[in-house]
Amino acid sequence: MDLLQRIKSREARVGIIGLGYVGLPLAVEFAKAGLHVVGYDVDQSKIDSLSAGKSYIPDVPSEELASVVKAGTFRATSDQRELANVDVIDICVPTPLRKTRDPDLSYVVKAIEATAAVLRKGQLVILESTTYPGTTEEVAQPALEAGGLKVGRDFHLAFSPERVDPGNQTYTTKNIPKVVGGIDQMSTDLAAALYGQVVDKVIKVANTRVAEMVKLLENTFRAVNIGLVNEIALMCHRLNIDVWEVIDAAGTKPFGFMPFYPGPGLGGHCIPIDPFYLSWKARQSGFECRFIELAGHVNGAMPEFVVERVTDALNSAKKSINGSNIHLLGVAYKKDVGDVRESPALDILELLHRRGAKLTYSDPFVPSLKIDGLALNAIDPMKAGADCAVICTNHSSFDYDAIVKRFPLLVDTRNALRGRNSKAIFRL
Ligand SMILES: NC(=O)c1ccc[n+]([C@@H]2O[C@H](COP(=O)([O-])OP(=O)(O)OC[C@H]3O[C@@H](n4cnc5c(N)ncnc54)[C@H](O)[C@@H]3O)[C@@H](O)[C@H]2O)c1
Repeated sequence: MDLLQRIKSREARVGIIGLGYVGLPLAVEFAKAGLHVVGYDVDQSKIDSLSAGKSYIPDVPSEELASVVKAGTFRATSDQRELANVDVIDICVPTPLRKTRDPDLSYVVKAIEATAAVLRKGQLVILESTTYPGTTEEVAQPALEAGGLKVGRDFHLAFSPERVDPGNQTYTTKNIPKVVGGIDQMSTDLAAALYGQVVDKVIKVANTRVAEMVKLLENTFRAVNIGLVNEIALMCHRLNIDVWEVIDAAGTKPFGFMPFYPGPGLGGHCIPIDPFYLSWKARQSGFECRFIELAGHVNGAMPEFVVERVTDALNSAKKSINGSNIHLLGVAYKKDVGDVRESPALDILELLHRRGAKLTYSDPFVPSLKIDGLALNAIDPMKAGADCAVICTNHSSFDYDAIVKRFPLLVDTRNALRGRNSKAIFRL
């Protein structure tokens, strides 16, 4: 039976490399559909946890994981040789930036090497990690073909950007349309057929470069619009206009406007990073991405502005940051998730620490935190005796009425205290 038939009859075996925020939900979705999935990860503690049916990703309930482990449709392993038995290899490893803001493809390269080591005729390889246009063709293809097998003739290769939005209850793996582009038509068709088993809608595009660029357009669109609205927030502050009311009112226009909201800065594994993959690649062709650089500049300066608002708040009580007790409410990069990667709260903590603040924090999703020279454990906000609190992440479970009563001064970077007016509340 050829691969297309094996996929359609759900007899195809799928290998997922990288069982994180992207790989694990996808693996479980395939396994729930009845496909046999082998998840490979280099982190043995993750393998142990998954094998025991315990999920570390809030979007994947442990019960769902445990049921596919028990049914035998999902198995986690740290032995890459087990990938030799699968029909499809789907790569979901991290793509961070180096300190120089250049792409760090080392994880992708390692995953491709692991794939190349087991590659055999008839397999389909898909790259899902967000990366610059050209990666699949220029990095993955030559490495996979080095052993003598050729794409199109012997195996298939496609790119499909992951669009998962951790914590989003409305849009999940199943109902977020999936874009796929292959090196050739057969690769596109096979990848589309595979995702078609678990997602409602698949969009085929001309090739891998288009598919890679789609993801970067989406994330650059967000980074630039957030940069614009952050600049509007700074401007409104100077002009003494409530930016939140402006956005709400502008948002009533039924066409031609889409609301974006200011905040303490960009966070997460995608929006602060992915646009720089694009600008790096464009620079290789002598093209300067001005919007990306400008948005990065504005967004990157927001934690400093938050600290300025903390200074304003303390100043109103004749206090200084130095020596004050300051409590951060929420340190995750966005509401209702426990991910602190690139979280602006970490920058804010560091800036306040350097200025001599005594710091505490609360976050129902982040029990402890380590940044340069500072190790903290989360506490109950109602037990924090602070001069000022900063709402960095507007988690739904925070009791904002109690918070307003508890803290003498509040800096609200998310408009979580919408509708409450008091001289003690300092908004962005
Ligand atoms: N998190 C998101 O919301 C999101 C959304 C869309 C796209 N993406 C993209 O998806 C990719 C993966 O992101 P993530 O958030 O899932 O990362 P993650 O850090 O949560 O997970 C990656 C996993 O890969 C494992 N790993 C690293 N190197 C490996 C190797 N050589 N072999 C096997 N396993 C390896 C790690 O141990 C980890 O478990 C990135 O390119 C990211 O930009 C992420």
